[in-house]
Amino acid sequence: MTTFQAPKGVSEYFPTRSNRFEVIRETIIEATKRSGYQLIELPVFEDTELFARGVGASTDVVRKEMYTFEDRGGRSITLRPEGTAGVMRAVIEHHLDRGQLPVKVYYSGAFFRAERPQAGRYRQFYQVGIEAIGMKDVRVDVEVIATADRALKACGLRNYQLEITSLGDAATRVRYLAELRSYISGIELDDDTRSRVELNPLRIFDDKRPEIRELMSNAPFLLDYLSEESKEDFSQVQNLLSALNIEFVINKRMVRGLDYYTDIAFEFVHPQLGAQSGIGGGGRYDGLMAQLGGAELSGIGFGMGIDRVLLACEAEEIEMPDHPQLDLFIVPLGNGDQALILAESLRSKGVRVAMTYGDKNLKGGMKSADKSGARFSLVLGDDELAQGIVPLKDMVSGEVESVTLSAIAKKVLAPDRVH
Ligand code: HAM
Repeated sequence: MTTFQAPKGVSEYFPTRSNRFEVIRETIIEATKRSGYQLIELPVFEDTELFARGVGASTDVVRKEMYTFEDRGGRSITLRPEGTAGVMRAVIEHHLDRGQLPVKVYYSGAFFRAERPQAGRYRQFYQVGIEAIGMKDVRVDVEVIATADRALKACGLRNYQLEITSLGDAATRVRYLAELRSYISGIELDDDTRSRVELNPLRIFDDKRPEIRELMSNAPFLLDYLSEESKEDFSQVQNLLSALNIEFVINKRMVRGLDYYTDIAFEFVHPQLGAQSGIGGGGRYDGLMAQLGGAELSGIGFGMGIDRVLLACEAEEIEMPDHPQLDLFIVPLGNGDQALILAESLRSKGVRVAMTYGDKNLKGGMKSADKSGARFSLVLGDDELAQGIVPLKDMVSGEVESVTLSAIAKKVLAPDRVH
């Protein structure tokens, strides 16, 4: 019989590596909650037009990476390639901006881009992201960047770099793009590159070829065209980041892959990840909400690539759990009925318990206990049960202590457990 394989280029997580994935995802979510962001759970598919208009027609994402299909009602639907457009749609549709501003939400889930798969680049990947909508204030910009930075540090990462830039306001962009177009028209480019930059000349800074980089070495930079207001915001953001001891470098060539960005934009890059070094990124988007039919409200947010943060943690050899975080493993002697009853009673008290099933002998049972990574183990025989006193083994020190059945929960609920 033929067996099935997952579609090409998707990322999948199963035990034991899924434990690490979960720790990374939950650590990043916890960092966003500490900054007051609340969960927003949205559909993974939306009206195609939302992304076409929100993400931008010149982007690779919209031009060639969307999973678009017609649903049974003949509507054009697209699997979400990113989270910001959907959040804006929800804010507008449900009038979330009528309450206190900024609206601060986080999301976590799968995103889809039909890219050429390679290490760290998948067609289904995972992000935790945040959006703060309705307040243009550099303190919000810095809170967003600081939250991402704190999240990465909480994952244990040290070797990443924060790059920031300002993409200016709409008027700046018009002035600058005219200059850039005129510069590009004076250099020799192949047809393919020329047609790409005609749609959005900024994309040429994305080109990694040394000859193109050389040709662009004297090109004007957007940063030199900023309005007084954008310049002031950019410098305040830098001052505040320094006050928070968050290291950064200014990347004048940064081009975000999505078109909605204005003013502050940032990326976290990890040098040990090769070509797919972007572990997270984001920025401010002034015109997006109005462009999608909502109020003239500015917003800012980030998207963290969980797949890549995990790869970065592995590249830095950060110690992460490779097993479920069990408090106790029970090895029953006999059929296991009493062990199951004890396990359930402990579970209801908050203890994480696993046990062996089937007719494993004591040796096999202890092997399973070892492999489980549980902090304590317990061999449960009839005698022990009759006496109500059981031998609790500390799997780290190897010490065995006799404890009463009613004292197990307290003993094994370790204060040092990482939740
Ligand atoms: P983005 O830079 O397109 O931004 O994606 C954010 C992160 O998602 C990237 O830095 C990367 O780590 C991860 N990522 C993107 N594509 C892939 C892929 N094919 N495979 C694996 N990981 C990937 C956004 O999506 C914006 N919505 C972020 C944002 C929120 N800006 C403002 N608010």
